[in-house]
Parts: sequence; structure tokens; C-alpha cells
Amino acid sequence: MIVGIQRLGMDDYPALTVLWAGSGLSWDFGDDRASFQAAIITNGQHYWGYEWHGKLIGCVLAAFDGRRGWIYHLAVDPEFRRRGIGRLLMSAAEHSLYNAGCPKVNLLVERHNIAVMAFYEALGYHRADNCFMEKPLVPLIPG
Ligand SMILES: CC(C)(COP(=O)(O)OP(=O)(O)OC[C@H]1O[C@@H](n2cnc3c(N)ncnc32)[C@H](O)[C@@H]1OP(=O)(O)O)[C@@H](O)C(=O)NCCC(=O)NCCS
Repeated sequence: MIVGIQRLGMDDYPALTVLWAGSGLSWDFGDDRASFQAAIITNGQHYWGYEWHGKLIGCVLAAFDGRRGWIYHLAVDPEFRRRGIGRLLMSAAEHSLYNAGCPKVNLLVERHNIAVMAFYEALGYHRADNCFMEKPLVPLIPG
């Protein structure tokens, strides 16, 4: 496929790291090659990319933990925004999660990125009054 949406594979990993960095996503746990390789085995059916003439210009990594679906690393190349690609990627992720039996999708927005909430609200997401807590079990090694 030259232009369009497709499932991501391990071959896409180098292009993904470029897309994440160019889209302002911060490097996080799970982003290193070995973690990505392990995660794609269990959740690869929910990993979607958008290709434009051989270039990866959009991605979303969704995951189903058996109770909830989670959205990670949604990104569209800044040059290609506001053309519906983000909406398309989210739709693909929601459909694959739904088809896997997922009843509800959650996602986190970092406080510095609050502007992206307008995008999610346009897709039907609403702000939940929850507090997010975290505890790293290993040190974060920057990529
Ligand atoms: C969020 C992101 C993926 C959206 O991708 P996109 O392809 O530009 O989004 P779409 O064109 O599908 O937008 C769908 C709708 O969302 C809304 N929307 C999208 N971007 C918006 C913005 N910056 N401000 C307000 N509304 C916005 C609009 O209603 C839009 O529909 P419209 O263009 O017909 O008005 C993209 O801006 C991005 O990569 N941001 C940086 C990475 C990021 O923050 N990821 C999310 C981490 S939680």
C-alpha cells in the first residue's frame, strides 16, 4: 500500500521513533526496540500506521488489557495534520479494540499537551475526574 492505513510491524520501528520525536511525543517506558518487539506480539493487532508514498506519517499504538483499551502514542506528522488522519487512526484502533471484546477505551493526556483534548473531544471522548498515579519499576533509559 502506498497511501493509507495499515497495521504496523517491526520493520516500522525506526520510522516510528522518527515520527514520535517529530511529533513532540516524549520518550517513555516501552519505547525501546526490545519492549516494542515484545508488545507487538500481544497487541500488534491494535498498532496502526498511516503511510504516504513510503513514509510513515501517522501512528497509534492501542492495547487491550482484558478490561480496558488504552491509547498510546497517537501521532501525525505536523505537515499532514488537519486532514482527518488522526481521526482515521483512532477509528481503526477503536474498531480493532471493539472486535477484540474491549468495552471501553481510556487514554491519558499530559498536562503540557492539554490542547490535544479538543481533538479527542471531537471524537467523542470526555474528560474523567480521575487522578493518574505511576511508579517506575526500572529506570527510564532515554532513546
Ligand atoms: C492529535 C493529532 C494526532 C491529531 O491529528 P490530525 O490528523 O491533525 O487530526 P484530524 O485531522 O483527524 O482532526 C479531527 C478533528 O479533531 C479536531 N482537532 C484536531 N486537531 C485540533 C487542534 N489542534 N485544535 C482543535 N481541534 C483539533 C478537529 O475537530 C478536527 O476536525 P476538523 O479538522 O474537521 O475541524 C495531531 O495533532 C498530533 O500528532 N499531535 C501531536 C502528538 C499528540 O499530542 N498526540 C496525542 C498524545 S495524548
